[in-house]
Amino acid sequence: MTTRHRIALIPGDGIGTEVLPPACAVLDAVGRRHGLAFAYDTFDWSCQRYLTEGAMMPEDGLGLIRHHDAILLGAVGWPTVPDHVSLWGLLIPIRRQFQQYVNLRPIKVLNGVPSPVTKATTGVDFVVVRENVEGEYSEIGGRLNRGFPTEMAVQEAVFTRQGTERILDYAFEMARTRQGEVVSATKSNGIVHTMPFWDELVEETGNRFPDVAWRQEHIDALVAKIVLDPSRFDVIVGSNLFGDILSDLAAAVAGSIGIAPAANLNPERDHPSMFEPVHGSAPDIASQGIANPLGAIWCASMMLDHLGHPEAAIEIFDAFATALATTQVRTPDLGGSATTKEFTNLILHTLTRH
Ligand code: NAI
Ligand code: MG
Repeated sequence: MTTRHRIALIPGDGIGTEVLPPACAVLDAVGRRHGLAFAYDTFDWSCQRYLTEGAMMPEDGLGLIRHHDAILLGAVGWPTVPDHVSLWGLLIPIRRQFQQYVNLRPIKVLNGVPSPVTKATTGVDFVVVRENVEGEYSEIGGRLNRGFPTEMAVQEAVFTRQGTERILDYAFEMARTRQGEVVSATKSNGIVHTMPFWDELVEETGNRFPDVAWRQEHIDALVAKIVLDPSRFDVIVGSNLFGDILSDLAAAVAGSIGIAPAANLNPERDHPSMFEPVHGSAPDIASQGIANPLGAIWCASMMLDHLGHPEAAIEIFDAFATALATTQVRTPDLGGSATTKEFTNLILHTLTRH
């Protein structure tokens, strides 16, 4: 029997449009081996659309993808459009309206991809769990007295008990399925209202998970430790801002921004979840056919896991890990000279060989 999934594709801008076809090719190939069939609907929501039609997506955009099983996004952003337009016009509405309150980023140093910052080639295997819908990225605040010496700006951070508890629960649950260790990123020595509240809820959550070891670390010390000794970590949980910074740092530790995946999850499955590589639209290499498709392909693997097909997900991961460990074929960002297509073909070949 075949299981069918309907996937909304949002290629976006630049190399976003170049890395999604490889991800779909890998999905189709692994699907054939596991009785899965994917139907893709492609949406042209992008900065290009913004420049011609004045909006990143149509007004009823979210209604068009609400009933898909998942969303696969390439990257959005282009030099001629301010970044806050592409972010607040597309990504943030999707994350918030679909209650994708978990941003999940697995960090692994893969055999054959040297990390620029650590000599460790094995043992770096952790996840950053970022709160994805509230916290520091709020619309509450304003500016006064523009252009005068008294000009000022105020931006409020919003931490709710419900929003904080659910992300902490997710992190602690996840630790249970891994090494059983949670590190919470905090800064309660400097941010004296929201962060002590966060810390209290971490402690409450920790008490509810007696089988999980946990500790709090101040964000400044934590980033240094991640650079110096990334193999110490299992699950790191942080607010929207701290998690954002931690996950890009961690992606760099793992070797290249081009291979890092991210999932925006609605754990209750009331709405579709969205999977997107960490990298942006890379205008500097767009249209050259040399983008690394691995971030998008790893996203496809995470998507399969979320859709309830862990064996197929692992098969994708094993295929690209094997391809990197046993060949020298790489895109230029990893020091090779392969094109996107050549590297994708290698992964497809590795996937279907056994
Ligand atoms: P970027 O990630 O697009 O590029 C940074 C550097 O990494 C560039 O030198 C690029 O060539 C390289 N790179 C990134 N992904 C690669 C890949 N798959 N293969 C090979 N090389 C790769 O970040 P940048 O330049 O700061 O941003 C460009 C645009 O993308 C901006 O408009 C930004 O707002 C947007 N952006 C969008 C994101 C998203 O859609 N979630 C995330 C980050 C940036
Ligand atoms: Mg970021």
